[in-house]
Amino acid sequence: MSLTAKPLTPARAKISSVGMYVPPKLLTNADLESMVETNDEWIVTRTGIRVRHIAEKGVATSDLATEAARRCLAARGVDASEIDAILVATVTPDMMFPATACLVQHKLGATHAWGFDLSAACSGFVYALQMGAKLIESGAHSKVLVIGADVMSSILDYTDRTTCILFGDGAGAVLLEPAAADEVGLVDFKHEVDGTGATSLYMAGGGSLHPATAETVAAKMHYVHQDGGSVFKVAVRKMAELSESLLKRNGLTPADVDCFVPHQANLRIIQATAERLGLPLERVVVNIGEYGNTTAATIPLALCTAMEKGMLRKGATVVLASFGGGYTVGSTLLRWEI
Ligand code: UT7
Repeated sequence: MSLTAKPLTPARAKISSVGMYVPPKLLTNADLESMVETNDEWIVTRTGIRVRHIAEKGVATSDLATEAARRCLAARGVDASEIDAILVATVTPDMMFPATACLVQHKLGATHAWGFDLSAACSGFVYALQMGAKLIESGAHSKVLVIGADVMSSILDYTDRTTCILFGDGAGAVLLEPAAADEVGLVDFKHEVDGTGATSLYMAGGGSLHPATAETVAAKMHYVHQDGGSVFKVAVRKMAELSESLLKRNGLTPADVDCFVPHQANLRIIQATAERLGLPLERVVVNIGEYGNTTAATIPLALCTAMEKGMLRKGATVVLASFGGGYTVGSTLLRWEI
């Protein structure tokens, strides 16, 4: 018999719903003052962070991701059984394998979904968003859940003041569906990686190069290590550069952007990026003060914040911009359709 196939029916993907979940326990700057030699003034002026949410022991990335997904689906009135695929961006999977996406599929009761994890650190969500969009655009799927979730507290050294003050735990989810005839949805993206950055931001232990041993634990290799200064400079330059060139190839300038949604790693990085782009801060989403850096979750959390604050209306031109370990950089151009 000869091979036949259904014709592809390409449609752009749109974000049709968003949801988020952060664990209730708070870790304030005052709490950190009693753990390491730091102070509220240093943390606020250098990072903009006031408080982060931290998962209780025994609560894992799949728990946060599942709750964010439930809220996202409830907001759209979609049943979990309707989901075709689940993509989870994370650097803190529950386990090395199976993929956290499989655990979420089971907890959510998404009986017809397949899925996988994607590891691109703080750019994980925007990278997964494009993978999900391609599944929609191919005509293969009509409902894809894209989740960014991390329990950063599970890989932080709470005696290292240079890293432990920065990160928090959280999860954000979006539902992707085909855009209707009068909608635009996800338009374009630019992604870059630069593997020379691998020595500036990493967790060395637990992988195939340095499997867990008593020595790797003693050497603190299962914690985040970061050369903050180097990362800072590249983050500002690359997020602005990529966003600007993405806009340019779509005939736009930063002045056309209604809402800029940057990765939340440091308030000064966000401000410097906005300044480079010539974007007024009223059009820039900032919630780092309340959540810290939640790695793959920052952008979907920021989308929820933007919805709450009324910064996103249907038809708005939106740019998402990320930067993270790898180095990984990503910028996404879309029209908001909710
Ligand atoms: O999401 C992934 C991507 N990550 C990022 O984008 C993070 C990028 N980097 C940053 O956000 C910043 O570099 C940090 C917030 C990590 C650090 O801020 P900084 O302004 O670059 O500070 P620094 O590392 O240059 O340190 C300045 C001083 C140092 O003391 P000396 O050497 O000047 O005496 C540090 O030891 O501040 C000291 N310091 C602290 N002091 C109080 C470092 N951490 C702390 C702390 N509390 N928590």
